[in-house]
Parts: sequence; structure tokens; C-alpha cells
Amino acid sequence: MANSKTVIIKIKRQDNPNSKPYWEEFELPYRPGMNVTSSLMDIAANPITRQGKATAPVTYDSNCLEEVCGSCAMLINGRARMACSALIDKLDQPVRLEPFSKFPIVRDLSVDRSVLFENLKKVKAWVPTDGTYDLGSGPRQSAEQQELNYPLSRCISCCCCMEACPQFNDKTGFVGAAAISQVRLFNNHPTGKALKIERLKALMGDGGIQECGYAQNCVEVCPKDIPLTKSIADVGGQVMWQAIKDLFRS
Ligand code: SF4
Ligand code: SF4
Ligand code: FES
Repeated sequence: MANSKTVIIKIKRQDNPNSKPYWEEFELPYRPGMNVTSSLMDIAANPITRQGKATAPVTYDSNCLEEVCGSCAMLINGRARMACSALIDKLDQPVRLEPFSKFPIVRDLSVDRSVLFENLKKVKAWVPTDGTYDLGSGPRQSAEQQELNYPLSRCISCCCCMEACPQFNDKTGFVGAAAISQVRLFNNHPTGKALKIERLKALMGDGGIQECGYAQNCVEVCPKDIPLTKSIADVGGQVMWQAIKDLFRS
């Protein structure tokens, strides 16, 4: 810490998707319990750089402030994590804030993470319940299914796993660990498994599960402790069996 009464924050900023990034530094009065999001709120209330220059308030995403909505993900001291749960007391200073590097910039710390939602659509990460009449209640989930599914259902779509993954890039088009883990979740759901084969087929070929190099960066950064490497191994096995079945059917 620069001194016990202030917090130094360096922010990589970008005014629009096509402009050049630049850094600005801010010095804030220290308050016990402050986190990265509350620091960004302090900057918004008084957008003056450490050098005394008036600047535009920093753009960032946030909503729930309790690590549930997934919107505030960014690089904090180089690590993909959630700003609302990143306590200033636990961070080395100066605290460096950068937008995710693998997603299109909207402005400053805000990025467009819609690729995850496109990938979730690709693998049909939902329970098919549409109908023009009341379908009634679905089958009950066993205690074993609940035990496996609950941790997987905690995904907050933050994209930290994708940002940290060496295989998630334009060249591979890899869907990423979050979408794969949702395939495991919905394939293990009594109603969701109706789309199991379509999900597995979506993970075959370019951008599919074989792009994973098993580096395990994803599981290291997941804020919800989702067992991503187990999901990748499990779904990898399901995809392989489906490919073998397809081979014998053809
Ligand atoms: S195991 Fe490695 S390559 Fe596979 S999704 Fe996770 S970080 Fe990416
Ligand atoms: S799997 Fe974890 S890191 Fe990835 S999007 Fe979901 S909550 Fe975030
Ligand atoms: S503001 Fe919702 S997860 Fe941080």
C-alpha cells in the first residue's frame, strides 16, 4: 500500500471499441472493507486522476454486488475475477484493472461477453419445456442427480474460465469450459437429457471439446468453484461414446 490512508488504482481505459487504450491512475481515501467495485463507485463520484486531471468516469459493469450476476468480471492484477468480491485489503498495490483481453471492448472495463451466450445456444443449454399446453410437473430428480447438478448450476456466466483458457481464441473457436459444463448439467437432467445427442454432436468438430488442452486454468479461476475439469472429462467421454455409436450406425 502506498500509505495506510490511500489506495492507488491503475485502470486501462479505452474510449470506444476502435480507439487506442491508455492508462489512468487514481488515488482514493482508504475505507475498511472496500472492494474493487466500491472503488470504481468512488472514482465515478469524483473522477479526478492522481495527477489532478478531471476525466470521464470509468465505465464498468456491475449489478448484484454479491458474486451472483456475473457482470463485473475483469482482470484484477492480471487475474480474471469478479470486482465485487475482490477486497482491496487482499490486493497488492497499485491495483491494476484491465478489461478482459479476449472479448470485444465496449468501453473502459466493459466488454461484450455475448459469445458465451451464443455458445450456450449452440449446445442447447436448456431444458426443453416449450409447449402450447400445460406439460405438468417434470420427473423428480434423484438425490444423486441433485448432488451432481447443484454445483454445476451455480455458473454465473462471468466468462473468467474463457478469459483464462489458452485454447479460447479466434483461431480455435473453442466453446470454452462453461458451455461444456452446462452440457454435463443438462445431459444429467431428467427432462434436459432429451437433447443429449444434439448437445454432444454440437461439441464434435472444430471449436468442440477436442480443442481443450486440459491446462486446467479454467478451474483455477472459476469464482463459483465449479468442477470444470471433471465436467470436461465427463462430457469428453460422452462425446466419444456418441462418436463410436454414430460410426457403427453409419
Ligand atoms: S482445461 Fe485448459 S484448455 Fe480446457 S477449458 Fe480449461 S483452461 Fe481451457
Ligand atoms: S464456469 Fe465458472 S468461470 Fe466459467 S462462466 Fe461459469 S462461473 Fe464463470
Ligand atoms: S456485481 Fe454481480 S457478480 Fe459482481
